Amino acid sequence: MREISMRARCAGILGATLLLSTGFILSANSQTPPAGGLNAARQAVDERKAVYKLIGASFKPIGNVLKGSTQYDAATIQKSIDRVVFLSGLLDEAFPENSNLGDPETKAKADIWTNHADFEKKEKNFQTHVLALQKVNETEKGATEAFKTAAAAVGQDCKACHDDYRLK
Ligand code: HEC
Repeated sequence: MREISMRARCAGILGATLLLSTGFILSANSQTPPAGGLNAARQAVDERKAVYKLIGASFKPIGNVLKGSTQYDAATIQKSIDRVVFLSGLLDEAFPENSNLGDPETKAKADIWTNHADFEKKEKNFQTHVLALQKVNETEKGATEAFKTAAAAVGQDCKACHDDYRLK
């Protein structure tokens, strides 16, 4: 009888300790919600990912010509470049402060918001090189050396930014 009540008391203490520590862990994890609320922040992240997904899909035919896996097709390449030009402009508004949610919500590194000048420079380089590619393509109209050089510069911009600002 005495033994049972000891056990019961021990279990009670253990339970209370567990409850307390769980509560502590939960409260330690709950950060202040982003400005405008979590839903608005998640929406901003979703929109950013959608823009990049489309940039990826639109750049693919250009990358394939660079790799030599597909032949240059004027209409396809023209369309791809025009799309990347348009999409690259959307990046200006793709990184609002509230969308710095961290992994696993986003692969965008917090450094984007702390090294803002450098990040903006990389974004600007990308936009400039995409416009340069558009111009070169207007006159080259083929997978010439000039076209390839301009396209490779854009590809380098994707990599440079991902290396520094995108989580693996
Ligand atoms: C100025 C920086 C920058 C440039 C330039 C850039 N990216 Fe990204 N990219 C990012 C960041 C940051 C993410 C992570 C976004 C997130 O998870 O919120 C990303 C994510 C992506 C994704 C994943 C999207 C998804 O489904 O979640 C793809 C695909 C992608 N980029 C392709 C490209 C391609 C292709 C280029 C060049 C043509 C490019 N990016 C240029 C910074 C950049």
